[in-house]
Amino acid sequence: MKIPLRHSMMSRSSARLFRPARHICSSSGAKRALGTSIPKAATPATSPSPSPPTNPEGGEARPRRPLTKEEREFLSSALRVNQAGELAATLIYTAQTPLVTRSDPHLKPLMKHMYDQEVGHFDTFNSLIAKHRVRPTAMYPLWSVLSAGLGWGTAMMGREAAMACTEAVETEIGDHYNGQIRSLLEMADRMERGGGGMGPELKELVGTLRRIRDEELEHLDHAVEHDAKKAEPHWLLTGFIRLGCKGAIYASERV
Ligand SMILES: [Fe+2]
Ligand SMILES: [Fe+2]
Repeated sequence: MKIPLRHSMMSRSSARLFRPARHICSSSGAKRALGTSIPKAATPATSPSPSPPTNPEGGEARPRRPLTKEEREFLSSALRVNQAGELAATLIYTAQTPLVTRSDPHLKPLMKHMYDQEVGHFDTFNSLIAKHRVRPTAMYPLWSVLSAGLGWGTAMMGREAAMACTEAVETEIGDHYNGQIRSLLEMADRMERGGGGMGPELKELVGTLRRIRDEELEHLDHAVEHDAKKAEPHWLLTGFIRLGCKGAIYASERV
């Protein structure tokens, strides 16, 4: 099948966000807190570079001011909520796939494609929260149960309801990532006006968020192409799920 490709409670340690790698400790604490496999953080640098830092284009980097407390808190909560959201996405597809593909075997490649992308997103944020020592949300166990239940429940209602679930979730998540990208670009603008640059790490984060946002919107398109709008009652189902997503995002950013 051809698949179209488009689409504060800040901890002391998280105050180290986006500082040089030599400040980053082992990810074992985050691994224990998550109870899941997190790729090991990059090997810390052992000594500072003797020469001036350079930007990705090869020129000398402009001096960057340190992040403000608000900026560090924003980045911590952004990574925390994104990691929780991507965990939920993998669990929704894990629960939906056996039921959906039993009644509609032709959807196997599509379900696998979307699941694989969600696993990639989850791995990305696992790495980032471990690298920057951001604590995961305390709601992690509850989200795990609820998202698996949501996937199973909608798949039991049929393919249309399962697709409506994806439509609702991805609508909210697309908006959520767009909001984060907007905030980061505003942060970059403030840094530029202050005479400094955004720095390669934050630039890379914006690129990562844009890529993941596009993949989420691709999932939304797939869901609509596969009869999400035919779910009954579509307005109630998607409205309920979207409300749940908003609540989960709000809580995961804070707790
Ligand atoms: Fe995702
Ligand atoms: Fe997705």
